[in-house]
Amino acid sequence: MRKVLLAALIALLWSGANARAETFPSRPLTIVVPLAAGGPSDVMARILAERMKTSLGEAVVVEDVTGAAGTVGVGRVVHSAPDGYTIGYGHLGTHVANGAIYKLNYDLVTDLEPVVLLPSNPMIIVSKNAVPAKTLQELLAWLKARPEPATAGTAGAGSGSHIAGLALESTAGVKLQFVPYRGTGPAMNDLVAGQIDIIVDQLSNSINQVRAGNIRGYAVTDTKRAGQAPDIPTTDEAGLPGFHMTLWSGLWVPKGTPKEIVAKLNAAAVDALGDPQVQKALENLGLQMPPADRLTPEALGAWQKAEIAKWWPIIRAAHVTVD
Ligand code: MLT
Repeated sequence: MRKVLLAALIALLWSGANARAETFPSRPLTIVVPLAAGGPSDVMARILAERMKTSLGEAVVVEDVTGAAGTVGVGRVVHSAPDGYTIGYGHLGTHVANGAIYKLNYDLVTDLEPVVLLPSNPMIIVSKNAVPAKTLQELLAWLKARPEPATAGTAGAGSGSHIAGLALESTAGVKLQFVPYRGTGPAMNDLVAGQIDIIVDQLSNSINQVRAGNIRGYAVTDTKRAGQAPDIPTTDEAGLPGFHMTLWSGLWVPKGTPKEIVAKLNAAAVDALGDPQVQKALENLGLQMPPADRLTPEALGAWQKAEIAKWWPIIRAAHVTVD
């Protein structure tokens, strides 16, 4: 009897989930960005959200839930209902590095379902205009000659800008005083205002300020120059050979979200990434589209696990501490 009741209960739950998947979505969705408004994560999420609403037929709202390098916003997503209406945006920092640095009350792999891999952002080394250096070599000499470390804006311990800043310290033999913000959007405001010295930033966050002459760009951490900033050398060309880093990003939903709903969200994001206008907007910011065969939830899940296996030992060995 108990077995029959259990089977009936499972069938009931199963049909309920199926019905929800069939009518999904029937109200607005939220993409939680765990970093500050105006920064590179927020900007990419807003470009995608605008187009995803066309495929989903419902508004897609972006909410910036900031704090502790994105751990607060990711926690919000993990602990929300697994119904597809709360989607989390994240990247190498929030969904890989943070697991090695913070005592999280969730697991970045087992408490989330991957949805889709998003474009990658090369990094760029930028300074405030008052820094008296015109080339990367001059910047490194200036950093080394200072009696006190120069200030480097980051989005907190474990963020992309922090990992890239740590890599610059160890590769170039310089010392930086990291200044944590809730995202590199506000860090950029302070760089333009001359309050901090440098950021090892995502290209999409810096590119327009460099173009406008509000800050100075020294080198892009990629193997080739960015088509949108062709005057800026690569790190290989500028004298820091092998200093390469691109920050990949993605979307996740809470564990237990029905597969059909994950598939609908994936299809909407893939549609958005395939739209020529979206591609133009992203590429104008220097963002690089992921290859088409890597746009499945499985590909993002496998990639996130591989990145955890690669980065956690490096981050733990570097004894990264929370600011
Ligand atoms: C942001 O959106 O603020 C960035 O992704 C921060 C970072 O990781 O450097």
